[in-house]
Amino acid sequence: MNQQSHSRSEQLFEKAQRYISGGVNSPSRSFAAVGGGSPVFIQRGEGAYLYSVDGHRYIDYLCAFGALILGHAHPEIVNAVSAGLRRGTVYGAPTELEVEFAAKLCEIIPTLEMVRFNVSGTEAVMTAIRLARAATGRSKILKFSGSYHGHSDLVLVSAGSGSSTLNIDDSLGVPSSVKQEVVDVPFNNPEALRQAVALYGDELAAALVEPVVGNFGIVPPEPGFLELIEQLMHDCGALVIWDEVITAFRFSYGSIQNLFGLRPDIITLGKIIGGGLPIGAYGARRELMEYVAPVGGVYQDGTMAGNPLSMLAGMTCLELLKEPGLYDRLAHHGRTLADAARAASQKYGVATHVGHFGGAVSILFTDERVIDFEGCNRSSSDRFTRFFRCMLEQGIIIPPSKYEAMFVSAAHSQEDIDYTAECIDRALAKIAEE
Ligand SMILES: Cc1ncc(COP(=O)(O)O)c(C=O)c1O
Repeated sequence: MNQQSHSRSEQLFEKAQRYISGGVNSPSRSFAAVGGGSPVFIQRGEGAYLYSVDGHRYIDYLCAFGALILGHAHPEIVNAVSAGLRRGTVYGAPTELEVEFAAKLCEIIPTLEMVRFNVSGTEAVMTAIRLARAATGRSKILKFSGSYHGHSDLVLVSAGSGSSTLNIDDSLGVPSSVKQEVVDVPFNNPEALRQAVALYGDELAAALVEPVVGNFGIVPPEPGFLELIEQLMHDCGALVIWDEVITAFRFSYGSIQNLFGLRPDIITLGKIIGGGLPIGAYGARRELMEYVAPVGGVYQDGTMAGNPLSMLAGMTCLELLKEPGLYDRLAHHGRTLADAARAASQKYGVATHVGHFGGAVSILFTDERVIDFEGCNRSSSDRFTRFFRCMLEQGIIIPPSKYEAMFVSAAHSQEDIDYTAECIDRALAKIAEE
C-alpha cells in the first residue's frame, strides 16, 4: 500500500474552507468522521472510476451516494443530455418529456397512478408528508430512528446518515413544535411499533419508511416488519409512505415493492431516476395526488421541477436498465464483496457485520447482528476509519462514514470487483495487526 500524495486536494480544501462552509456542499462528503483532513477532490468520472485532481484513479463505490447505477458519464446519457442542452435547459412551461417520463413511471410502479417531479429527494419526502397530512387531516409522522429522509425540518429528528456521522442526530434550528410531530421508533422492533401506534395511532398521518434501510448501513427489514407497518397504519387510519429515494431501480427494475409484494400508499423517488442529474419525485393513486395544487390545496412548486435535462437523463437511464441480466450481475458483484468481507473477517478474527442487499454492501465493525440504528451506532468508528483509509490507499473510494453504503454499478467489471475483494482482505488483515 503506497502513501499517496493528495497535495492538490489539500490546497483546494484550504481554499474551499475559506469560501464554502466546512469546505463541502454536503456534509456527507466531508472526511471529518474518518480521521479528518481534506476529502479527495474529483476532476472527472468515467465508468466505474473517479479520477482525482491529484492524478489518482479510484474504483468508485460512492456512486454519488446511490444516484448512479450505470457508472459515470455513460455515453448514451451524455449524448441525450448534450442534445437536450442545445434545445435549452429550462422553460418555465410543461414539456412532452415530463409527460412521457411520468407515464413511464406509472406504468412500471404499481402504486403510482400519478406523479410529480421535483429536484431532490428532500423535496419529494417533504411534499409526500404534506400530502399525507392533508389527506388524513392529522399531523404526526411516525419514522424510524436513524433513517435519513433528506434535510427538511421534520425528518431531521433522529436522522441517520450524514447527520449521525457528525453526531447531529437532531439538527439545531428545528423548532421543538416540529419535533413534537415526530414519533420515532426503532427499526425492526415490532413491540416498539405497536406501543407507538397504541399511544399515537389516532394522531398519525403516516409512517415514513425506508423499506430497505441504506442510511445506518444496509439493513433489510426483518420478515413481517413491513407487513406489520402496513397493517397497523391502515388499522389506525394512517397512510404508509415508502421512501424509495435509494431503493427504487437499485435492486430491481422499478419499486422495491415488487420484491416484498406490498403496496405503500405514497412513494418517493430520487437519485437513480435522474440518471445522474438532480431529481426527486413522489406519487400515489389519483385520489391522493389530486390533493396537490392546482387541483387541490396542497402546495408544491419548483422553478426547476421536471426540468428537461433531468427528464432526458432519467429516461435514458431507465431504458438502459432494461438490459437483461443487469440486476443479477449487480447482485452477484454485491455478494462477491459481502462474501469477501465475511471471509476476511473470519480469517483474521476481526468481528464484522456485513449488511448486504443486491448490489449494496456495508461493513460494520461489531460482533452483533445489526438490525437497527443503535446497533450501527455501537459499531467501531475507529476500525471503520482504518478500513476506509486502507481502501483509499489501495485506490478504492467508499463513503467516508460507517452509516453509508457502498454501491455497485453496472460499470464495475469482474476485475474491479475481484481487485476490491482482495483489497478488503488486505484491509482487514491490517486492522487485525493493529
Ligand atoms: C432514503 C433517502 N431519502 C431522501 C434522501 C434525500 O435526497 P436528496 O439528497 O436528493 O435530497 C436521501 C439522500 O441520501 C435518502 O437516502
